[in-house]
Amino acid sequence: MGVAAEQIRSLHKYEKTILLALERGMKRYAWVPLEQLRTTTNLAESEITYRLSRLIAWGMVRFNPVPYDGYALVFGGYDALALATLTHKGTISALGSQIGEGKESVVHDALGLGPVAIKFHRVGGRSFSSARLNRDYMPEEGHCPWLIASRKSAEREYEALKALHPKVSVPLPIDQNRHTVVMALINGQNLNRCRLEAPKEILEEVLENTRLAYKAGVIHADLSEYNILVEDGRVVLIDWPQWIATDHPNAGAIVGRDVDNILAYFLRKYQLDFPREDAVQWVIG
Ligand SMILES: Nc1ncnc2c1ncn2[C@@H]1O[C@H](COP(=O)(O)OP(=O)(O)OP(=O)(O)O)[C@@H](O)[C@H]1O
Ligand SMILES: [Mg+2]
Repeated sequence: MGVAAEQIRSLHKYEKTILLALERGMKRYAWVPLEQLRTTTNLAESEITYRLSRLIAWGMVRFNPVPYDGYALVFGGYDALALATLTHKGTISALGSQIGEGKESVVHDALGLGPVAIKFHRVGGRSFSSARLNRDYMPEEGHCPWLIASRKSAEREYEALKALHPKVSVPLPIDQNRHTVVMALINGQNLNRCRLEAPKEILEEVLENTRLAYKAGVIHADLSEYNILVEDGRVVLIDWPQWIATDHPNAGAIVGRDVDNILAYFLRKYQLDFPREDAVQWVIG
């Protein structure tokens, strides 16, 4: 599920016009009718179908002939729109290679004012695909769930980073567009891949940052060795879209689970037995 950087660079202005028309059209349709594209873009039908065939070949658009000729934006097309906007704004000038992939995202490095990371959220690509195949006119609320869910996820992550940086060691948030977040590139390793020389110090740094986030009103809610990077011996907490506020009714249980995940990891890998009560006390004071 990479990002088609080459194609984005060579995107013709009509192709961008069509992607934008599809993005708008998908507020109303699961499959945007060709006729709708014609009226919203003012382009000739032959131009539109030629441009669409290229967008389909690049994995940016899907076609469905039944019961009418309809077109849908897919993640590749949404990526292209976000990258076009971020490039236009000057946030990034070049997209680099993929540096990470999770259940619900793809992360690339990129060039901005300096080296940056760009995270493309991909929420519900698989689970919502049956909804996308449903040709019915979409209800007001439920239209295009993957697009909305992925954008919301990126917005939430950006919100957390802005609330936490620089009080907490998280990547500097730089920009956000559609389903993407641009942030500082961390030159580090995921904690699960490290062999630490001073594990107790690192564990304490994780707890301290968890405390600082809690003090700022934010609980990570998916804290684990996979969502911690170690850069020059310092920890950076990443992957914030699922954060919850400390006034959430289950805040106590959720912050407890975050702490448990971390303690379990250090016990398993380093035989470091940090008392749970002390750790929870540290974080929520
Ligand atoms: N700012 C960054 N700098 C360097 N590498 C990053 C950065 N953000 C993410 N990464 C890399 O990309 C990987 C995936 O990012 P992240 O954990 O944020 O998303 P995710 O794991 O896909 O989310 P999910 O938990 O939903 O699967 C990380 O494990 C990390 O290796
Ligand atoms: Mg992750």
